[in-house]
Amino acid sequence: MMQEVRPSDNRLAVSETIAVLRAAAEKHLLFYGRDFSDVIIARAAGAYMYDLDGRAILDFSSGQMCSTIGHNHPAIASALRRSAEEVIHLDSTKLSPSVIALAQELCAQLPRQLQRVMFLNTGSESNEAAIRLAKLHTGRFEIAALGGSWHGMTAGSQSSTYASGRHGYGPALPGTFSLPAPNAFRCPIRHCADHCDSTCLEVGFELFDGWSVGAGAAVIAEPVQSANGIIVPPEGYLRRLKELCSARGMLLIFDEAQTGLGRVGSNFAFETEDVVPDILTLSKTLGAGVPLAATVTSDVINADARAKRFSFYTSHVSDPMPAEVGLAVLRLIVSEKLAVRANEIGKYLFDGLLELKQRYEVIGDVRGRGLLIGVELVEDRRFRKPAHTLMQLATDRCLQLGLNINKAGGPNAVWRIAPPLTIEKSDIDSALSILDTALGQCGAR
Ligand SMILES: Cc1ncc(COP(=O)(O)O)c(C=O)c1O
Repeated sequence: MMQEVRPSDNRLAVSETIAVLRAAAEKHLLFYGRDFSDVIIARAAGAYMYDLDGRAILDFSSGQMCSTIGHNHPAIASALRRSAEEVIHLDSTKLSPSVIALAQELCAQLPRQLQRVMFLNTGSESNEAAIRLAKLHTGRFEIAALGGSWHGMTAGSQSSTYASGRHGYGPALPGTFSLPAPNAFRCPIRHCADHCDSTCLEVGFELFDGWSVGAGAAVIAEPVQSANGIIVPPEGYLRRLKELCSARGMLLIFDEAQTGLGRVGSNFAFETEDVVPDILTLSKTLGAGVPLAATVTSDVINADARAKRFSFYTSHVSDPMPAEVGLAVLRLIVSEKLAVRANEIGKYLFDGLLELKQRYEVIGDVRGRGLLIGVELVEDRRFRKPAHTLMQLATDRCLQLGLNINKAGGPNAVWRIAPPLTIEKSDIDSALSILDTALGQCGAR
């Protein structure tokens, strides 16, 4: 049996340790989507990750878009310790004070139409529950989602995920449809140029009406799309979306896995247009790195779900340990007004990126809200061919220089820039300087 190798193991030189770990990873880990990075992370704190050599890497993707209060925040560490001392897991009918407090405090941040919550673990699961709830409540089964969306990897949420991963697994759930996304930089219906006028939404529903067998249950949407390359809908879009759903008796589900709890400069993205969904899902940012998700809905839908014996009974529903963490995260976000901070410091980052755009023709677009920003790379601004090669080279170079950023945008080349909401201006300056150097060294014009 191979001996376990740990970073603190000083029997081996660091370079040998890395080689041994990489070989073991190569041999035993199952591929699940993207190649593993060459960098192996020994620890993380705040906005930084540290590799086995102790080299600091600024994390501008907040882990997998989760760690909004920074890596290993002391409040999370003490919540984990508290839960380890008190209670980690219970059978699904037993509640801990932490679960009840989290429900109360989360609902206190939400409008009166969203006062019933169920705690789960992953975003996929929260959307699965939302979709099942919408189906049971409406008695229908058709679900529409925006093109390029990402709602998860389990069967129901995956069927409404149009970003990738659809080929090779047989049929999606019957009755799943996509509506063109409001991408102003690349209008999906070739109608607008750089300013979306929401015609895509009207066209999408016309198409849906043609395909539908009259069983529309819900539309599920990210209020700001992330995996699709940070697509911010124009003013009025979400309101119209709700109207179009209501006119058909369809529920509106907002998936705020990434946008919820401060990232876009408000506690929830739906607040911007004051459009309250029938069902809200939260995940990544709720546990800020610990698996915790929530599906939230109204008293009316809850009463109907109870009457119809809605079932979403899982091993880790209402688990105390993630709830303890969620409570700590929520309290910190509220007490430190991190949504406001995201807005303010997001402007500083946005301006820095606009300044880079003035100097590099390859930066075709900078867009976003709060601390969720997309930077789209193009070969030239006129024809806007995605600059994939440059993006790969520059992303790799950034990592070598100490900045972790990741790619979104499906077939397009978009950097998704999303540091923790606690990021310091000096770290933003370092990141902008690394981006500048990397672009320059990789031959960007
Ligand atoms: C908007 C959105 N919803 C849902 C999910 C799925 O969450 P999970 O990976 O926790 O299942 C993701 C994951 O990236 C996401 O970005």
